Amino acid sequence: MILVTGGAGYIGSHTCVELARAGYEFVVLDNFSNSTPVVLERIERITGQPVRWHEGDIRDRATLDRIFAQYPISAVLHFAGLKAVTESIDRPIDYFDNNVHGSIALVGAMERAGCKTLVFSSSATVYGPEQPMPVAESAPLTVSNPYGRTKLVVEDLLYELSRSDPQWRIATLRYFNPVGAHDSGLIGESPVGTPSNLMPLVCQVAAGLRPAVQIFGDDYPSPDGTGIRDFVHVMDLADGHVAALAFLERNQTHIVVNLGTGRGASVMDVIKAFERLSGRRIPYEIVSRRTADIGISFADVSLANELLGWVAKRDLDDMCRDAWRWQSANGQ
Ligand code: NAD
Ligand code: WQD
Repeated sequence: MILVTGGAGYIGSHTCVELARAGYEFVVLDNFSNSTPVVLERIERITGQPVRWHEGDIRDRATLDRIFAQYPISAVLHFAGLKAVTESIDRPIDYFDNNVHGSIALVGAMERAGCKTLVFSSSATVYGPEQPMPVAESAPLTVSNPYGRTKLVVEDLLYELSRSDPQWRIATLRYFNPVGAHDSGLIGESPVGTPSNLMPLVCQVAAGLRPAVQIFGDDYPSPDGTGIRDFVHVMDLADGHVAALAFLERNQTHIVVNLGTGRGASVMDVIKAFERLSGRRIPYEIVSRRTADIGISFADVSLANELLGWVAKRDLDDMCRDAWRWQSANGQ
């Protein structure tokens, strides 16, 4: 049985679908601070199987101990946490509490229960702005906001944990820019309030819910001048988690692995592809660069291929098509 913390969230929910498809049993723990139980019903509709779930907080020791006592949990996929960079600057205590304290509480409960296999959601944000691209896992790490720092602190904790006790099996996965949705249109990304990430904004502009996309700068050293990112389809990420679990079943070790496509797409590439796939016009305006934004970011994905046998299969058209299907089916 796999415990999925944050399993009702964007990446967690898609991973639950792939876990079911791969034949894993799982139980979700989520406090629904950024999701709703409706997502779990949607997972049931997609997989045709009931989903076990508990409403609760990873910071709550009693909840965790109860779940580990109730189920024979062999591994944990740990998605639960807060993830908005700007919000983290205003609310650092909440971010450290959820992401750092929450992760400490989780690994503490795992240790008490004798469950020492963990897949952790980290982020390409730990690479900071000055790296030559593509960036490999061995690159120096720097962070410029509280959210990124919480990821780095937890990465450090997991490193020390695996050094202190070699029985731990840990995969720290550094996601690049997850986008897209399950091709059923039943689950996807539902940001609360105004989205800050590019793809949900593009979706809402295409749907007529917002007037235009503001492009943050067209003077980056890219072919069209707009920023470049390694957008990766959320279903490919989900496959990456199943591959990481299978790897940890075979290897008692600690790995840190990038999950991306290894290819960059510019902000303008995304807008153009989305227009083509949705048949909608996406008005945009060029505005000044976003503070502390990185110009170009894309992953060296050779380690994921070598260790996990994983490569991203879906391209930018798939990402836009699936994001648009989800947006169209769900209105706002
Ligand atoms: P999300 O907000 O959609 O999902 C997180 C889930 O965790 C939500 O369902 C939320 O209700 C739950 N949660 C939050 N705090 C909790 C707590 N204390 N106890 C129990 N449940 C809690 O986010 P996501 O995009 O699915 O991201 C999942 C993970 O991946 C996060 O750790 C995030 O930092 C990381 N990540 C996300 C991205 C991205 O762009 N989406 C990129 C890199 C890394
Ligand atoms: C992508 C590109 C923007 C919005 C963030 C977090 C990172 C990770 C993923 C969790 C950039 C441009 C954006 C807009 C724009 N999350 N853009 N107009 O900045 O790569 O990463 O999400 O770990 O930690 O920092 O993603 O989607 O915000 O931006 O022009 O309205 O789109 O400048 O070039 P980013 P993003």
